Amino acid sequence: MQAKILVVDDEKNIRRSLEMIFSGNNYEVILAESGEQAIEILKTQVPQLIFLDIKMEGIDGIETLRKIKENFPELNVVMISGHGTIEHAVECTKLGAYDFIEKPFSKEKVLLVAKHALEKFRLQQENLRLKLKNSEMIGVSQAMQKISAQINKVAPTKTRVLILGESGTGKELVAKAIHQKSERSDKPFIKVNCAAIPEDLIEAELFGSVKGAYTSSIRETEGKFSLADEGTLFLDEIGDLGLKAQAKVLRVLQEGEFQKVGSEKTLKVDVRIIAATNKDIEFECKEGRFREDLYFRLNVIPIFIPPLRERKEDIFLLANYFAEKYSNENGTQLKIFAEETLEELAKQEWKGNVRELENFVERFMVMVDAPSGLIRLSDLQLNTNSAQASKISFLNNFTDEVSLKDLKDKVERDYIVAVLEKNDWNISQASKILGIERTNLHKKLKAYGIKN
Ligand SMILES: Nc1ncnc2c1ncn2[C@@H]1O[C@H](COP(=O)(O)OP(=O)(O)OP(=O)(O)O)[C@@H](O)[C@H]1O
Ligand SMILES: [Mg+2]
Repeated sequence: MQAKILVVDDEKNIRRSLEMIFSGNNYEVILAESGEQAIEILKTQVPQLIFLDIKMEGIDGIETLRKIKENFPELNVVMISGHGTIEHAVECTKLGAYDFIEKPFSKEKVLLVAKHALEKFRLQQENLRLKLKNSEMIGVSQAMQKISAQINKVAPTKTRVLILGESGTGKELVAKAIHQKSERSDKPFIKVNCAAIPEDLIEAELFGSVKGAYTSSIRETEGKFSLADEGTLFLDEIGDLGLKAQAKVLRVLQEGEFQKVGSEKTLKVDVRIIAATNKDIEFECKEGRFREDLYFRLNVIPIFIPPLRERKEDIFLLANYFAEKYSNENGTQLKIFAEETLEELAKQEWKGNVRELENFVERFMVMVDAPSGLIRLSDLQLNTNSAQASKISFLNNFTDEVSLKDLKDKVERDYIVAVLEKNDWNISQASKILGIERTNLHKKLKAYGIKN
């Protein structure tokens, strides 16, 4: 589709030269001689970009800009400033002008500004459209479309769902989406992180306990199964559940009933179970670490979320979705990634998947200055691993004063992690760079508790 550009200027020559430049480059041009006329035109036609003169008879460019932004906040407006109007720049920027060109202007400059502004507009629109369509889960890849369809299909039922995928791929988000789209959405969504609870406490955590069941239990407690009654119970990291607890969970799934720890009384609840794991659960079964019968019970409908690197189209959308999210959250000016920058981001491995991308964008938004609102490839190269970046993350790491020894350890640890990450956790390469023996590096990893 041809982009439409509205040119507003009271000087005929300027209108004409901009018209020639734009139509010569396959843009559609609409002309207005005054602010009033521009506002009239916007009632019936919507351009993707506006070039607006500052100094005009009648309502001037600044007032016109204010009116345009009131009605079309997402439209990009490039101000045309002549001699003696550049001092209005600050005011225009505050009102949300996208950029400036100064008279006399070159064809190249005009076309470049237009190209960038239109690119930004298109990316913004695309994200907006997706956000509306997909409320929370962002993605256009085939895999994500299939997952959306699966969510819609299983949500209204009580069928058990097992969500599989690497860490950070969005398993919890899928579980929540299923709950939200189900008839249970106004009932509780309770999450249990099976990996985080010590083996001997998991039973009480899941089923509750009566007073005196343990020496430490001084009162009766409710378990997650009871808390999730009529709602959804999300058994996260189920692959990390110990064998003893697995047997107990299996029993609830088979018989629909359980007892609190230390009680004989049988309880019944109406709970929808969704489980998730980043482990290869079939392998866990083969190795005897996970009960096959429990696996079959949980795995009625499997939903597999592929790693981000296998659905690169989603990186494009997610990066700009997070860029918008974090520039809003931090109250900074809206900055989004240009196409060329997105392509570079899509080349990365993203071992931590969507979570890693999200963290990266959040950090990046704080560091990068992109006055045009578009983050170009050079901004990325300039700001990644820059001194400024390490300084910020360095200072953020300390909330209290620390001793020199702690400081030294911390710096050493952080540096080792950074080198490992940069070298895809290749130990020999990292030890070469760090100038220490592999065995020594292994020792340090152990001492600092560094794991991939
Ligand atoms: N498709 C998506 N759209 C928007 N945000 C997403 C998407 N997928 C993941 N996220 C975000 O990425 C982060 C990680 O997602 P989530 O916690 O659901 O992953 P997970 O698979 O449960 O990870 P882990 O295995 O580490 O627990 C969250 O902040 C989530 O909101
Ligand atoms: Mg999770």
